[in-house]
Amino acid sequence: MNPPVFPEESNCLAKKYLSQKIFKVIEHEKTDSGFTLTQAISSGIKNLDSSIGVYAGDAQSYKTFSLLFDPIICDYHGFSKDKTHQPNISPLMLPSLDPGNNYIKSTRIRVARNLKGFSFPCHITLSQRRELEKKIISALDRLKENLRGKYYSFESIDEKELKQLKQKNVWFQKGDRFQNAAGINSDFPNCRGVFHSFDKRFMVWVNEEDHLRIISMERTSDISGVYNRLAGALLALNQTLEFSRDKTYGYLTSCPTNIGTSMRAGVHIRLEKLERNKDLLQHLSRAYHLQIRGTGGEKTTVENALFDISNRQRLGISESGIIQNLHNGLLAIIKAEQSL
Ligand code: ADP
Ligand code: ARG
Repeated sequence: MNPPVFPEESNCLAKKYLSQKIFKVIEHEKTDSGFTLTQAISSGIKNLDSSIGVYAGDAQSYKTFSLLFDPIICDYHGFSKDKTHQPNISPLMLPSLDPGNNYIKSTRIRVARNLKGFSFPCHITLSQRRELEKKIISALDRLKENLRGKYYSFESIDEKELKQLKQKNVWFQKGDRFQNAAGINSDFPNCRGVFHSFDKRFMVWVNEEDHLRIISMERTSDISGVYNRLAGALLALNQTLEFSRDKTYGYLTSCPTNIGTSMRAGVHIRLEKLERNKDLLQHLSRAYHLQIRGTGGEKTTVENALFDISNRQRLGISESGIIQNLHNGLLAIIKAEQSL
């Protein structure tokens, strides 16, 4: 096999760490389910603006291709294998951040999960996807009280329901060109769906970038309330589903950026003054380990000063630690906005 050719302009981590020497050692490796190095890096090869450029096809990819994945994980997360990732998803009680909802319009916390024993979405067959979807629906059916809800399949949802779910940011889109090049869109829209709780505050995306994206979301700034609901849901789902997990790397996900807690906790926050003082906003975000995304999600732009601000760290920090940091950072950001 010829060494892979990343685009000349590419600065992705896969290109940075796939040296000739490492390539020679792992070029013929395959996981038990048949996932290859060529598949793992195909998104980075095809998209010159990739930042990571690699996806895992199954849990074993993290071991089989560890010579490539480990340095990428160390670079992105600042985490090496001599450290330990310690989860802590116990409930929290934090003071309200923005009781009048003057700045924060909504809070959303998600985690990613993949079921043990199944390939990840870029390397899964249609029949496995179907089996997985059935298992997940049956687990979701058993949720109780405020987590009870309905599953909407991409294959059978009607127009009216679809419109409503799209308006509320409940629905998800077919994967972008990065996910597409990795194979995540295979057989779309088959076996994809969204579970939405009757109280409209909890949802699960099925067969998107990971088998499950478990999401708690509401139009308030009550971060601990949103987090506690998610913690309760995870506890309940853990009783019926077994998730792919590693002692060192925590929960294993398609993209190495999401391993560990796999949590992204964030708010949609209107910052009209800081929008004109971007250096200060950048400085505060860095100081509190936060990242800024656009209004429509990853790789989108900020519309009408509505920023998506969330944690940057997911590995080597606990779930409750992430929420504490986010809370502290948002307090500082709101204070700065008020003082301008
Ligand atoms: P992910 O969070 O799964 O990594 P994205 O950044 O693409 O992926 O976000 C997914 C969707 O959730 C996007 O439509 C985005 O606009 C929406 N979203 C993200 N944060 C919030 C929030 N705090 N309130 C409402 N919607 C949000
Ligand atoms: N694969 C893309 C890249 O390398 C996205 C990485 C992070 N985002 C994600 N949705 N996993 O830039």
